[in-house]
Amino acid sequence: MPDDVLQQTYNFALAYHQQDHTGHDFEHIQRVYVNICKLLEQEPLADSFICKMSALLHDVDDHKLNTDGNVAKRFLQSLKIKESVAQQILETIDAISFSKSGAHPKFKTLEMKLLSDADKLDAMGAIGICRALIYGAAKERPLFNATVFPDSQNNQARTYSINHFFDKLLRLKGAMQTKTGQQLAEERHQFMIQFLHQFFSEQELTDWHNYLDDYLNKL
Ligand code: ADP
Ligand code: NI
Repeated sequence: MPDDVLQQTYNFALAYHQQDHTGHDFEHIQRVYVNICKLLEQEPLADSFICKMSALLHDVDDHKLNTDGNVAKRFLQSLKIKESVAQQILETIDAISFSKSGAHPKFKTLEMKLLSDADKLDAMGAIGICRALIYGAAKERPLFNATVFPDSQNNQARTYSINHFFDKLLRLKGAMQTKTGQQLAEERHQFMIQFLHQFFSEQELTDWHNYLDDYLNKL
């Protein structure tokens, strides 16, 4: 029975996210699903159905997708599952966004911790770099301006894709909730740092190397 429901939910998410270019394409959903399955292997106390359903539905109501905020709720009501289970899935999804829960989140349930780690891992490492650059390109944002540092008072700072690493990507490691999540995050975090150093080296930007080192020391 849960397998049928999972399959139905998988098909729904596939159809829903197919056309997306904001970083919430179905490949993202699939990777988050794989991540949460990996995390579940080390967390036998977590409810795997809640985790998997939440992973499949976690971005259907993302504000960047212009929804009315009730897409997941309506879909869950159409399924043959208990209302309390549907409610738990909705609460799990609702808890995890970086903008709401911040760089040092405190979650009520183990399922929230797993979903948060699974989603955040996909915003890190090589994939995280690609997603940030794709997102910036979709918004027609410039990649980088060597004269505008991320913490400057200049409002322009947020519009450069490379600055987004300092706003969010480099802070994700510190938000990891599970031991496995922390381990997987470490390699991805180091890779992003290596990428940025290389990016700055190729342009001989000593002040940006220093800026990055200072930033990391203060994390
Ligand atoms: P998530 O599904 O990981 O919660 P978001 O909705 O915050 O992610 O963003 C989707 C993807 O787009 C992420 O990989 C994120 O890093 C990237 N992204 C979000 N905002 C920006 C931005 N201002 N510049 C570049 N990339 C961004
Ligand atoms: Ni996501």
